[in-house]
Amino acid sequence: MLIKRNTPAIKSSEITDEQLYINRRNLLKTAGTALGAMAVPVLANTPKRKVLRHDETVIGSTPDWMQEKLGRTVPGNFSTDEPVTPFEYITKYNNFYEFGTDKEDPSRNAKDFHTDPWSVEIMGEAEVTGQFTLEDILRPHPLEERIYRLRCVEAWSMVVPWIGFPLADLIKRFKPTSKAKYVRFETLFDPERMPGQRSFFSAIDYPYVEGLRMDEATNELALMVVGLYGQHLPPQNGAPLRLVIPWKYGFKSIKSIVRIEFTSRRPRTTWERSAPNEYGFYANVNPNVDHPRWSQATERRLPGSLFRPQRMETMMFNGYGPQVAHLYSDLNLKRNF
Ligand code: MTE
Repeated sequence: MLIKRNTPAIKSSEITDEQLYINRRNLLKTAGTALGAMAVPVLANTPKRKVLRHDETVIGSTPDWMQEKLGRTVPGNFSTDEPVTPFEYITKYNNFYEFGTDKEDPSRNAKDFHTDPWSVEIMGEAEVTGQFTLEDILRPHPLEERIYRLRCVEAWSMVVPWIGFPLADLIKRFKPTSKAKYVRFETLFDPERMPGQRSFFSAIDYPYVEGLRMDEATNELALMVVGLYGQHLPPQNGAPLRLVIPWKYGFKSIKSIVRIEFTSRRPRTTWERSAPNEYGFYANVNPNVDHPRWSQATERRLPGSLFRPQRMETMMFNGYGPQVAHLYSDLNLKRNF
């Protein structure tokens, strides 16, 4: 990841005041029926909280069937109760190199990125393969909200109320064979619609590729994501379908997925290819293994300010050790960073 010294600060007018935001969140927690038609059903065995919504701004659009599906979202497990990062930050401070390398570029340049129709190709070592519409992909999966920490390799972090469903449930449908040891994901390659893919000075080769070991991909925390804050995914956050792997650095959470392949060999991933000594295949959040150019011991939780930076200690596996540490019991995490 390129770290830019002069990354433009997000304008304060664009950021919801944090205290205001927290008040709104408390209100949402206790509002009961006050949300009226916006309220989503809470099932008996799901956590007793409401799905977080941000209705003042809706970015991009989504088909009606998707809107209806999102309306049936229920609160899921594994959510942190740490303060959630304001919507304006999550949607204006982005890494999506296909739309530019500055943090504000994706929100500016992805405005007209339409994602309907969308299809996903399933290929490789599986019994069920082929081209599927987004609706085919999503139909059997009820949506849940999971509020996860997102830790970028650049040492900033956020807390995001994602909407999605377990990747494991999707994988099961395609019946991977015994040869399938890894899952490879690919982002759309369309230089006409993605200006960053036309750049001669690009730091990375497109299409963007990511990968997981099969046991990582089927871990209960790995999430296929289609929304955030109660609405569909804005284009800058990887519409219409992205991955979120909360115990790994953010670059593993690949956006705008068009291809999923089951492979016997470990895929060569984008950042690993472009700087193998800096970005590994595993990319587990690890405060004990520094990036060659900066420490990973602490992180800057967004939003913060020059006078009130929210600097905090980074947790092993981003705090998700109880769910994932067993996956790496035989692995030297210093060598396999
Ligand atoms: N996926 C694609 N296709 N292109 C990218 O540039 N950036 C990654 C990841 N997924 C990226 C991507 C990085 S470095 C991070 S930190 C997260 O997306 C950021 O997700 P967000 O913008 O929704 O916070």
